[in-house]
Amino acid sequence: MTTTGLPGHVRIVEVGPRDGLQNEATPLDVATRVGLIDRLSAAGLPAIEAGSFVSPKWVPQMADTDAVLAGITRREGVDYPVLVPNMRGLEAALAAGAREVAVFGAASESFSQKNINCSIAESLERFRPVCDEAIRQGLRVRGYVSCVLGCPYEGEIAPDAVATVARALADMGCYEISLGDTVGTGTPGKAGAMVATVTEELPVGMLAAHFHDTYGQALANLYAVLQQGVAVIDSSVTGLGGCPYAAGASGNVATEDVLYMLDGLGIETGVDMDALLAAGRFIGERLDHAPSGRVARALAGRAPA
Ligand code: HMG
Ligand code: MG
Repeated sequence: MTTTGLPGHVRIVEVGPRDGLQNEATPLDVATRVGLIDRLSAAGLPAIEAGSFVSPKWVPQMADTDAVLAGITRREGVDYPVLVPNMRGLEAALAAGAREVAVFGAASESFSQKNINCSIAESLERFRPVCDEAIRQGLRVRGYVSCVLGCPYEGEIAPDAVATVARALADMGCYEISLGDTVGTGTPGKAGAMVATVTEELPVGMLAAHFHDTYGQALANLYAVLQQGVAVIDSSVTGLGGCPYAAGASGNVATEDVLYMLDGLGIETGVDMDALLAAGRFIGERLDHAPSGRVARALAGRAPA
């Protein structure tokens, strides 16, 4: 903790190559996905979500995640988690050499059905053997809870519902629980109240904030939860992203915006802004669209690193 009560160090989990690219209309080729991940690791990001082993009929953009894992240059000390919804996904992840996987549940019944085609209770039953086997094989398992600050189908979500799913995932052995404001409707007071409820069940050191920026609230929400001791932030280079099962949801908070805020607060991350901007320019050119994050736009003229 710094004298301001904020954490002295924040671990940024870059989710652009998964959460970002899964929502792009055009699936990108493996070489481009690899090129993005390698540029992000060169920027000093300690964790980069590399893809997911889900049905390619549901999310074609994440097909060939095995080839992506085979193509990247793994940097010492960098984690490359991948999403797995079931045993089949875990088996594919293991065959591809993944060392960390993430299971993804939700605090909203409707979202669970739309996203992974089963109820919350069924999803937890499905995740249990996945976690058991992953841990038995020496992998780390991260757990996601979606819709922690609202659901595109149900609206308000009770913080208690979030805490219950978070607790269940932790009990299965997830080392960290990432709290997803999937639709980005949260505001700082709600984010703080939700984290306060979850920390009645789990230590704050187990929590990560995964906020989408649809309503422009993500940085304010992050600042609120940083003050509560949350020290892991998920974000997406240039603000890529969204969710195919959450209509209208825009991307994750941009990594550049998060880094600018944390740098300004004197919070250490180990991430280099110029190298991050270079990664953003690389993917922006391939996707042919401008960054949605503010900092990348403001610094667009900055000389390449
Ligand atoms: P299902 O239809 O209920 O499952 O889908 P199924 O077992 O009946 O299988 C259906 C088909 O998928 C079969 O193929 C299976 O073989 C295949 P078919 O016979 O039709 O040819 N299949 C698979 N293929 C590849 N890998 C697998 C796999 N499993 C089954 N692992 C399922 C259930 C979960 C598979 C499906 O609903 C799915 O893939 N959903 C995708 C979910 C997803 O990726 N969502 C986006 C990520 S979550 C997110 O973005 C939120 C987050 O960012 C946090 C936040 O912001 O809140 C994490
Ligand atoms: Mg997300």
